[in-house]
Amino acid sequence: MTRVPPVFDSPDVVVGHGQLVGRVALVTGAGRNIGRGIACRLAAEGASVAVSDIDEGAAKDVVEAIHTAGGTATAVVGDASHPATVDRIFDAVEDVYGRVDALVNNAYARIGATSFKPFLQVDVADWQAFMAANTSLFFATSQRMSRTLALAGAPGTIVNVSSHGAARAHREHIPYDSVKGAMESFTRAVAVDLAPWGIRANCVRPGSVSVDCERMDWGPDDVRSTQIPMGRPGSVADVASAVLYLTSAESAYVTGQIFNVDGGMAAQARAPQVEPRWPAGPTNLTDFPARLLH
Ligand SMILES: NC(=O)c1ccc[n+]([C@@H]2O[C@H](COP(=O)([O-])OP(=O)(O)OC[C@H]3O[C@@H](n4cnc5c(N)ncnc54)[C@H](O)[C@@H]3O)[C@@H](O)[C@H]2O)c1
Repeated sequence: MTRVPPVFDSPDVVVGHGQLVGRVALVTGAGRNIGRGIACRLAAEGASVAVSDIDEGAAKDVVEAIHTAGGTATAVVGDASHPATVDRIFDAVEDVYGRVDALVNNAYARIGATSFKPFLQVDVADWQAFMAANTSLFFATSQRMSRTLALAGAPGTIVNVSSHGAARAHREHIPYDSVKGAMESFTRAVAVDLAPWGIRANCVRPGSVSVDCERMDWGPDDVRSTQIPMGRPGSVADVASAVLYLTSAESAYVTGQIFNVDGGMAAQARAPQVEPRWPAGPTNLTDFPARLLH
């Protein structure tokens, strides 16, 4: 018997518990996939959500989905890797909701094919463009929100969406993994700097997440699933729930942390295929005494 835990994945419509009533969240890259799920989840918990994306149609579509579910949201369109545009985005949100006190840096700029080349073939100009855009995506937004909140003496939260690539390398993903490493160091550094101001900063670090553009419909017997202790890829809802925790008052004393959302991948030393004691996989219960299951 192989046991695979169930997936809960309906990110657009969730019954919330009002954990974020009165908060104003800005989610970058919220037009699709993980960002969309985060925006919908925060809205379901009562936050007013600024859906920020470079893709106007996608941002408006998410706003419509949130309104249909009874939530509050507005679309803010622009390239969030440009500091001047970030100022325009924040000005627009402040005009509508008065402030931003919950920032989620989720956007990732897929610039060219830069992030999918062997190291020996990565062009330095491409590297510089990729790093500049993708580090600015979390620096400029975090600084703009924090300056405004510090001046007002108001608390806030930053959640950065990292990747397991920050801790363990993907093959031929040098710029991507590097920028996520920078994001995690940045998170710890600003968490310490901003703590006296009551502004918390944390990362969620997803493992393999099934999204529209890279479906990971791996069955429990697929070799990729068997490398994940929980036996399945992550869902958008799994990531959104972690972002909610780090944004809400439930995590009031948590800052500077990297929160793995990866079905146990970071915890495991070796995949089961290479564990000599577990040739049939870690969740094989065939020989498990039935009386111990009750
Ligand atoms: N999908 C995964 O398996 C996975 C795993 C680990 C981490 N992550 C991380 O999660 C985050 C979201 O991943 P995803 O797969 O949903 O990404 P995605 O590429 O599907 O969506 C990214 C969104 O960001 C928007 N965007 C891109 N550049 C922008 C810019 N300059 N300004 C504003 N918006 C911009 C895009 O239009 C898009 O809507 C990323 O940070 C990614 O690194 C994803």
